[in-house]
Amino acid sequence: MDLQTNYLGLNLPNPFIVGASPLVYDTDTAMRLEDAGAAAIVMHSLFEEQLLRGHIRGFPDSDGTENYLADEAREFPLHADAYVEHLGHLKKRLSIPVIASLNGLSEGTWTEYARLCADAGADAIELNFFFFPADMYESSSEMEERALYLIRAIVQQTSVPLSLKLSPFFTSLPHFLRHAEGAGAQGAVLFNRFFQPELDPSGPSWSPEIGVSSPDELRLRLNWMATLYGRSQMDFALSGGIHSHLDAIRAIMAGADAIQVVSRILREGPESLYTLLADVRLWMEANLYEDIGQLRGVASFLNVDHPEAHARASYFQLLKNWKS
Ligand SMILES: Cc1cc2nc3c(=O)[nH]c(=O)nc-3n(C[C@H](O)[C@H](O)[C@H](O)COP(=O)(O)O)c2cc1C
Repeated sequence: MDLQTNYLGLNLPNPFIVGASPLVYDTDTAMRLEDAGAAAIVMHSLFEEQLLRGHIRGFPDSDGTENYLADEAREFPLHADAYVEHLGHLKKRLSIPVIASLNGLSEGTWTEYARLCADAGADAIELNFFFFPADMYESSSEMEERALYLIRAIVQQTSVPLSLKLSPFFTSLPHFLRHAEGAGAQGAVLFNRFFQPELDPSGPSWSPEIGVSSPDELRLRLNWMATLYGRSQMDFALSGGIHSHLDAIRAIMAGADAIQVVSRILREGPESLYTLLADVRLWMEANLYEDIGQLRGVASFLNVDHPEAHARASYFQLLKNWKS
């Protein structure tokens, strides 16, 4: 049974990647994940705010602008210097690729951090665009330009592959990805889970929380994966809502080159990855597939000439046939 895949120029024995999370704070857990079959791991993100004001060794002070997150960022587990050290340590102990994750949205010296991660052995960089388009005076194209500027800045720093972790609430996704590819990005991760704090009416107060995902979150991702498959040279990883082997099969059928898993592992432990892989193999065997490549994109919308018209027609049909 051949589960090999290629993602960001990395030849992986299977498509399962451990997504960005605290799962690899600890080297022993990272080694358990490797033993359970993880093909690669993504480290948790290092935020632009952690790199401000010369926090990282050898970095010049930024323009001195006070950032309200800067002090808290210093308290974050694995601050900037420790992050690079930990990355180097993981590289020594693991034989699978380690992908560093950066989270930022403005130009600045912090992008040099991509080079430091690459020098420490990162096999690729995942850039998480945590854009929250709340500015009434910034247009979608200005926001896209800001993102493309960042991509170019990081591509200039290092030659390791770059992937973009995007939010589903971006601008025109296919259009943006076309330009992102032109700017040097090699892959995209669909999608980030957007930060959604809960509103407690008794306060009223907002309580920030980051819970595990539910399988329902997969549908949005599948839909976009199927839409984008085959329309660009980029590699695509699906992140969000993978809880069973059937979810993983769905992701590949929609067109994913790689699958990132976090919540299932947080809930059930590193060894649950082993079961996931074993179940994928069993399913493929039972359904007479020998190579994961035979599954990739079979349920994509590649042959749909007008995805927008197709989506509207499908919705219209559904409503027409609705019976309460
Ligand atoms: C506790 C926790 C911490 C996370 N930390 C990060 C992070 O540092 N950077 C990032 O890009 N995504 C982070 N994520 C998002 C995950 O990488 C992933 O995109 C999301 O959880 C959806 O995948 P899942 O359904 O397999 O959990 C985090 C998720 C969780 C639950």
